[in-house]
Amino acid sequence: MSAKKSIQGLPVYQPGKSLEEVKRELGLEKVIKLASNENPFGCSPKVWESLTQIKDQFHLYPEDDAPLLRQKLAESLEVDERRLIFGNGSDEVIQMIARAYLEPGTESVMATPTFPRYETATRIEGAVPVEVPLREGKHDLDAMLEAVNENTRLVWVCNPNNPSGTFVDHESLSNFIDQLPEHVLVVLDEAYVEYVTDDTFPDSLSLLDYNPRIIVLRTFSKIYGLASFRAGYGIAHPEVVQQLSRVREPFNLNRLAQAATLAAISDETFVLYCRNQNRMGMKQIMERLDEWGIGYYPSQANFLLINTEYNGDEVFSYLLKKGIIVRSGKALGFPTYLRVTIGNKEENEVFLSGLSNFLQEKKSRVSQ
Ligand SMILES: Cc1ncc(COP(=O)(O)O)c(C=O)c1O
Repeated sequence: MSAKKSIQGLPVYQPGKSLEEVKRELGLEKVIKLASNENPFGCSPKVWESLTQIKDQFHLYPEDDAPLLRQKLAESLEVDERRLIFGNGSDEVIQMIARAYLEPGTESVMATPTFPRYETATRIEGAVPVEVPLREGKHDLDAMLEAVNENTRLVWVCNPNNPSGTFVDHESLSNFIDQLPEHVLVVLDEAYVEYVTDDTFPDSLSLLDYNPRIIVLRTFSKIYGLASFRAGYGIAHPEVVQQLSRVREPFNLNRLAQAATLAAISDETFVLYCRNQNRMGMKQIMERLDEWGIGYYPSQANFLLINTEYNGDEVFSYLLKKGIIVRSGKALGFPTYLRVTIGNKEENEVFLSGLSNFLQEKKSRVSQ
């Protein structure tokens, strides 16, 4: 029996290699993972406390609409509670958006390379992904606008973009949204927004205030350090939230995730600390790359896309054998690049010395 046509040939998602897998396969004791843009500083200590408080309730379904988290998050974002929709990771919100708004005969427009789940979610619904190449590593908003037609239902803007780390500024985004026809919803995926320091970055919530056709996506997997819990959310007009709720799985934000995220958003000090450390780590790596004359895209996120000018898979395998897990740019649409998550100071040093050894070995082989 064959599965539905739209998923034939769809690739299975390939995550970055896990620490456990690399330790097991290579028999290494010390491994660092800078592959999935996770938080090297863990999560707020308040999270553990919140989990111990619910330890007698694991056998009970959680509250379906996460009322405590909803209230607290709405307060901190200064938005109406009815504007929030939660997901089992923002991945699930992406899926809900595609499920609610796409069907065969419709299209969704996105950049390429960008976060691959927009394309997958589009294909699953039997709709057509229309991919518009980045220009100098950035979303080409003019070309994206040209790609919009009467069949377009969604436009995805990953901001900052994964894997390039580049961003679209407020003015450009606002002009772009103003020119979109009324039948199109725009999804602003801001998974890394808490890391952004550039003050021309869009104030997406103010855009959303006057435009009901915007969905903003955020996650607890990055700066909040809660990737294990799978918790993300969307902010949108209540009517859009209503549509998404129709396709949401019951109890999709589990009890542990509700407790952990509620505790995490009350610890602003932790978030600020991580943001500062990330900037310092970024500087640490960029300064060394500048010294070596290695190119990279300017990043507002917690990762850097680095052009080693060698086959990305080769550099990846070299580093992996040394216990350093990064992401080869090859699978991400940048064949000679590496995407590296900014780690803590020591991890960044380990990565830099691994990369430096690789480059020196290459150079000495050429000069032999
Ligand atoms: C741009 C972007 N959006 C969404 C996600 C998914 O995050 P979550 O863990 O909330 O599903 C990621 C994860 O890497 C991402 O990079």
